[in-house]
Amino acid sequence: MTYLKIAGACKLNGQVSISGAKNAALPLIVSSILAKNEVQISNIPNVADIKTLFVLLENLGANYEFKDNFARIDTRNLSKTKAVYDIVRKMRASILVLGPLLSRFGSCEVSLPGGCAIGQRPIDLHLLALEKMGAKIEIKQGYVVASGRLKGTDVLFDKITVTGSENIIMAAALAKGKTRLLNVAKEPEVVQLCEVLKEAGLEISGIGSSELEIYGTDSELLNFKEFSVIPDRIEAGTYLCAGAITNSKITLKKVNPSHLSAVLSKLEQMGFGFESKEDTLTILPAKEIKPVEILTSEYPGFPTDMQAQFMALALKANGTSIIDERLFENRFMHVSELLRMGADIRLNGHIATIVGGSELNGADVMATDLRASSALVLAALAAKGESNVHRIYHLDRGYENLESKFKGLGADIKRLKEE
Ligand code: EPZ
Repeated sequence: MTYLKIAGACKLNGQVSISGAKNAALPLIVSSILAKNEVQISNIPNVADIKTLFVLLENLGANYEFKDNFARIDTRNLSKTKAVYDIVRKMRASILVLGPLLSRFGSCEVSLPGGCAIGQRPIDLHLLALEKMGAKIEIKQGYVVASGRLKGTDVLFDKITVTGSENIIMAAALAKGKTRLLNVAKEPEVVQLCEVLKEAGLEISGIGSSELEIYGTDSELLNFKEFSVIPDRIEAGTYLCAGAITNSKITLKKVNPSHLSAVLSKLEQMGFGFESKEDTLTILPAKEIKPVEILTSEYPGFPTDMQAQFMALALKANGTSIIDERLFENRFMHVSELLRMGADIRLNGHIATIVGGSELNGADVMATDLRASSALVLAALAAKGESNVHRIYHLDRGYENLESKFKGLGADIKRLKEE
């Protein structure tokens, strides 16, 4: 196993290029199951979760090539419809194959993903929606066993779910008749999936709103055009927080600022400025870092995937900040690690009170999930002395070339082997 050694109290400067969005690339790659042609996708981040997904597709019988962030995927000869536990347990987003496999083949088995470090993360809404569309769903030996030809109908999601929406959009694509989806997630990643399917010939309206109408093709496969994955708004937000926590001026390239409104508005409230031109965004240092109040919610609200990074940043604020985590019940695992660095954070249920201003000291800390890991990296950059961030396989799941990007910004960061 490897860990990151990070020298603290650093100033950053320069430019960093933002990669394609992992959470957009995952459903987009899965959508190739709906294709009658080879699907070509560029700007795919080369991160562990993407590689896991390719292994899953290959295991189902797909052919693929993935090089230099570009993939060719051919699912025309898919021979299996069982997504096995050994792969699904590595990445919950594997559940995304359920909708498209079922709508294409009329039956499939997908291992239940189980809980994870940030909460229980049920998939009941995915299953209820498929049942509403006529599927028979059983849970057998840890697998979702689904069968039946899907028919268009009205589906109302009780809660907004990102991968749930994506799963059912893909299921509806090959279903028979019109599916109306209500209370759909509006995340840019969901929007890109809809746009790509529309380009591929699917009749779909309401894109970007919480209500979609999809005219299913009744099993006819779609004809995909080549496309490029949108920039990763969470990676971009993480680098903005790196600029902020070190109070440095840095520039992000290949970014879409319009996907970052909630994050930019909180950084502005904390005293930071911005300059933006086309697809670049520069964060400017604050005269004084002010405390902030954050409530995580669905897009366009403040993303839960940026909560941990803002908690690290709030430690540098001049006053007390409040973070209210509304989406996941256990997404505060980074708190006990930040405490090891001298942070003053109090937890009360889903609310964290962060007392800013006390000095952070370098320490050995352990990553617990993807975004928690990035918060520890940020805190390490701002702390006095050296920190070692362990279990960074979590980081590798979603951040492409993290050390080289930080080195490019002037940080002293090394990946070393645990002894
Ligand atoms: C997606 O997860 C992202 N993953 C997560 O990013 C992100 O944190 C999350 O959306 C919220 O934005 C991918 O896109 C691959 P949800 P997802 O279903 O789809 C409840 C990262 O770090 N719920 O929108 O699994 C659920 O428990 C990851 O990159 C049900 O109750 O999240 C949660 O409270 C982590 N039943 C809420 O809905 C369901 O059937 C939102 O979860 C489904 C969800």
